Amino acid sequence: MPRVFSGIKPTGPVQLGNLLGALRRWVDDQHTADSLYCVVDLHALTVPQDPDILRRTSEELARLLLAVGIDPDVATLFVQSHVPEHAELSWVMECTAAFGELRRMTQFKDKSDGADFVSGGLFTYPALMAADILLYDTDRVPVGDDQRQHLELARDLALRFNARYGDTFVVPEASIPTVAARVMDLQHPDRKMSKSEDSPQGTILVLEPIDDAVRKVRRAVTDNDGEVRYDPEHKPGVSNLLAILGACTDTDPATLAERYEQYGPLKADTAEAVAATLAPIQKRYAELAADPGHTAALLRQGAEKARAMAEPKMALVRQRLGLLARG
Ligand code: TRP
Repeated sequence: MPRVFSGIKPTGPVQLGNLLGALRRWVDDQHTADSLYCVVDLHALTVPQDPDILRRTSEELARLLLAVGIDPDVATLFVQSHVPEHAELSWVMECTAAFGELRRMTQFKDKSDGADFVSGGLFTYPALMAADILLYDTDRVPVGDDQRQHLELARDLALRFNARYGDTFVVPEASIPTVAARVMDLQHPDRKMSKSEDSPQGTILVLEPIDDAVRKVRRAVTDNDGEVRYDPEHKPGVSNLLAILGACTDTDPATLAERYEQYGPLKADTAEAVAATLAPIQKRYAELAADPGHTAALLRQGAEKARAMAEPKMALVRQRLGLLARG
């Protein structure tokens, strides 16, 4: 079975776009691949975090991953900082990457531009991400389009290390969905739904009260021409509703468009589909939240499984590099 690795940062609440775009693929992948899924708390530290909030967000995210259907008996679900080899290999990757290579990363440019504090970690972020992936002989990395450049770098670093020190790492492939469920902001359908707090009415949170989510869908921005058609460029609002309904019901949005004459019924059906998608996740989440020790124990087991792979790989890396063996 191919090995799959992906990570998600514990910053802010998970929204519908993350669920339909990424997390549902993770759930599907676990049955056809040997999958590792990681709550990347060290990546969250690239910007200052409140410790209590980070702790809570990490725990909630892990619980949510379980609630959406990641099965800890099938996949390996763990927290990045529980496996110290990530940080260790990250240093090696920083020393394998060229300064100029890291400086070309567009995400760094976007995030550092205009920020009043730019940490060194924000700059070396892709080296840690490469370490995450390379530690586990990962074949395939399901990520969004925004991570394409980071994945390319991970491949380059694997190839460079292998060329310098001998075959050590599997060179990973990015797996970027071609027909991604691109979920846009319900109030500003020209931009992606994001977990940031700047558009509360345009963002559906996976754990928000179902009534609120339904209301947001019903009040989604459309347009004035009154025709239901899947055309993201000219009709972003209507197309977004079709994309959401399509993702929730596993149906092609253009096919769905043919079933509607008016916006009202489209909104009603989309709201209902969103509610039907979120309700079982919220129920399962509440059950898990009632027993925090259970999630903690599952994460401990996940970290043990991950460490059993990471430790021998890191030992090989130290040997390849010429780091003196412990006597
Ligand atoms: N950088 C990724 C993001 O922002 C998260 C991430 C960290 C990741 N490490 C990873 C994704 C390893 C895939 C594989 O979405």
